[in-house]
Order: sequence, then C-alpha cells, then structure tokens
Amino acid sequence: MMQAKTTAPNTRWKHYDSIESLRHAVCEVIVQRANEAITQNGRFSIVLAGGNTPRAIYRLLRDMPMDWSKWHIYHGDERCLPADHVDRNSLMAEQAWLQYVAIPANQIHDIPAELGPVAGAKAYAETLKNAGTFDMVILGLGEDGHTASLFPGHVVDNSADAVPVFDSPKPPAERITISQNRLNNTRDVIFLVTGEGKQEAIDRWREGVAIPATLIAPANGVDVHCYEVVLN
Ligand code: 6PG
Repeated sequence: MMQAKTTAPNTRWKHYDSIESLRHAVCEVIVQRANEAITQNGRFSIVLAGGNTPRAIYRLLRDMPMDWSKWHIYHGDERCLPADHVDRNSLMAEQAWLQYVAIPANQIHDIPAELGPVAGAKAYAETLKNAGTFDMVILGLGEDGHTASLFPGHVVDNSADAVPVFDSPKPPAERITISQNRLNNTRDVIFLVTGEGKQEAIDRWREGVAIPATLIAPANGVDVHCYEVVLN
C-alpha cells in the first residue's frame, strides 16, 4: 500500500559528530527548558522516552543543579511487565536518574502497565487528565519508524490520552502508549536518534513518508537530535 507522503512542517534536524556531544547538548536543552518553565509557571512537566538511547542522558541529568521539587515526570509508553522488571521503562529512568534526585514521589507518574494494557491505559488516561499541556516530550525512534509505542500499520484510538497496544512488533507485545494526539499537546518535542540501524527510518522521514514519528507534529515543531545517521 502506497503510504501518504507528508512533509512535517518545522522539523529541525541536528547532527552531532559524537554521542557525547549529543548527550550533553540534549541535557543542556532539557535543563534550559526546565528552568524557563519553572520561572514562568512554577513547574516543568516532561514525558520520558523509553528504550536504551535516553539512559545516558538521564544519567547526566542526575548531576544537574536543579529545583527538582517543581518537576512532573510522565512516560510516553510502557511495557506490560511487572513494575520491577528489568525491561520496564520506568525502572530504567529510576535507576539512571530519578532515584538520585528529589522529585516528590507523587510527581513521578509511572504508567501502571503491570495492570495489563486495558486497565493500565484506563488508569493512565485518568492521570493524564490532570497533566495539562506538557512542557516537553522526549521520544526515541525505532528502526521501523515507530515512536513511543505507536507502530506502523497500527491504528490507535486518538480520542483517548492513553491507549493499549496488544501486538507490538517490538517485544513485549502488550504495551501502553500515550496517544499521538495527547503527545502533540506539548510545547517542545525532542527526538533522540542514534545508531546506523535508524538510517532507513530517517531517510523515509526526510523523504516525507508518513512513518509514526511524523504523527508527532506539535505547533512548535520537533527537534531531531541525530548521531551515526546521515542526513541526506
Ligand atoms: C520502547 C520505546 C521505544 C523506543 C524506540 C527506540 O518502549 O521501546 O518507547 O519507542 O524509544 O524503540 O529504542 P532505542 O532507544 O533502544 O533504540
């Protein structure tokens, strides 16, 4: 089936010559946006990406001088595994960063994916009702162009803020994801894309193929931070 071609407006591509320069640059952007939001609104709400790429950036954040009491943490998606399972995105963020900083526990909103995709998504949708517009969303990119747990060829119910996924091509099959529409209700979006395996997805994205990542198109556009992929 021919996929519709889209040219997402204001997508800003940033290429780095080293993974360390990408990590430090992204850490600085997050810190800057957090300080701006806290100064302006007295709070900073951020949606974290799962997977492996963000871990080293989360580790850098733990040492940043910051008023952590004003941070509100959400997750873009979660695997339906026990809360202490090594593959949980929430556990990765906790072990890399959150256990080292004084964000109030009631301001860290893990997705209760241990409840299963339907009950967990319903519970998280309730949580998101009180979240308002996010200040920042951090997303990864899969080799097939997926982001969060929005996968090619998988339609999600965008009338809901959090939705169940039953047949994820990336294990585990059962997940919960914030919907495309809810992810777009944010001021800033940062994509983290590293590794040659992401080249095809980046090429298709830049050619205007409608991969799931292009569904994320908030008013302010998105910043795509890249390493080990060529921006042809
Ligand atoms: C997940 C993530 C997923 C991830 C991409 C990239 O739960 O797996 O939400 O969307 O961000 O698959 O993963 P890597 O950063 O490990 O390449």
